[in-house]
Amino acid sequence: MRGRFHIRNAMIEEIKQIREQALQAIERAATADELEQVRIRYLGRKGVFKDLMGRIPQLSAEEKPLVGKESNLARKAVEQGLKEKQAQLAPGKPEAPKEIFDITLPGNRPRFGRLHPITRAAYELIDIFARLGFEVVYGPEMELEHYNFEALNIPPEHPSRDAFDTFFIKDDILLRSHTSPVQIRTMAERRPPLRIVAPGKVFRRDTPDASHYPVFHQIEGLAVGDNITLADLKAVLDIAMKAFFGPDTRTRMRPSFFPFTEPSAEVDISCTFCHGEGCSTCGGKGWTELLGAGMVDPNVFKAVGYDPEKYTGFAFGLGIDRAAMYRFGITDIRLLFDNDLRLLNQL
Ligand code: FA5
Repeated sequence: MRGRFHIRNAMIEEIKQIREQALQAIERAATADELEQVRIRYLGRKGVFKDLMGRIPQLSAEEKPLVGKESNLARKAVEQGLKEKQAQLAPGKPEAPKEIFDITLPGNRPRFGRLHPITRAAYELIDIFARLGFEVVYGPEMELEHYNFEALNIPPEHPSRDAFDTFFIKDDILLRSHTSPVQIRTMAERRPPLRIVAPGKVFRRDTPDASHYPVFHQIEGLAVGDNITLADLKAVLDIAMKAFFGPDTRTRMRPSFFPFTEPSAEVDISCTFCHGEGCSTCGGKGWTELLGAGMVDPNVFKAVGYDPEKYTGFAFGLGIDRAAMYRFGITDIRLLFDNDLRLLNQL
């Protein structure tokens, strides 16, 4: 009896010591990591309390409950100490809110983008010409000199190269200075009849001013067939301009020169700002120039292997940026390239 009593007493002493040591270790822990180490040492799977519990089965029936109870009390005290210290080491850490979604708050308004005025103008023009039976084709922005010049009846040293001067990548590769090379690429691939429009970016060595930019956009038109005349050209442009700028719009042709058309014309529309009265935007003329056009030159047909005795055709090249300016009331082309949202959001 004495011996057993001794064992029980010794174990209860040991448990009390363990409890004291554990509480002191908790007290000393300065960081959450240190505290976790203490927890593992005492309460972990291979911890001190686990070891204690493992020894209880060896005790007598009357010792077991007493030692077990003491051990449980000590364990609880250590758990409590850990919990309090944990709270101290993470002061102000907010409890996870039970309800995190307040359905009465207004939603986030999504910000919608919109098409740039140049893109809008391009899409509308494409749509108008598509309704007139023109198919949309595209050509490369980086172009061979042959397509930009020679095949368009502009030989080397020809003075009209100046008007189409551009940026060269290599001797025979350049950034196209108009969309007219797409005429050649299309005709070289197909046989008449054909009716195409070719929109896209073009590049020129032009100094920026209110109506010029070194990068701009054109939409090329080409119709080739058996009996196409200047009257067809005039009608198509008149219908297209009325559809784009409004039914009051008038068009006029002025004689001009392009090496790839004969005869050639500059096409003006009645000024959309003053409706033909004359204002500062149109320089008092009442008209603004928008495109170049003409009947396809026989030399161009020869360059693509079409018989100029058999076929005739018309072509035009329209400045999309200028069209966007006149349509949306922008007086300086540079505003279209500044990307200032205060302006773009108004259009
Ligand atoms: C040409 O580019 C010819 N390829 C058009 C053509 C096609 C004629 C087919 C005959 C047959 P032009 O250089 O005039 O032509 O340019 C056509 C249009 O592009 C101009 O009327 C103008 O609206 C626009 N444009 C020309 N240069 C600039 C520039 N620097 N910035 C903005 N728009 C321009």
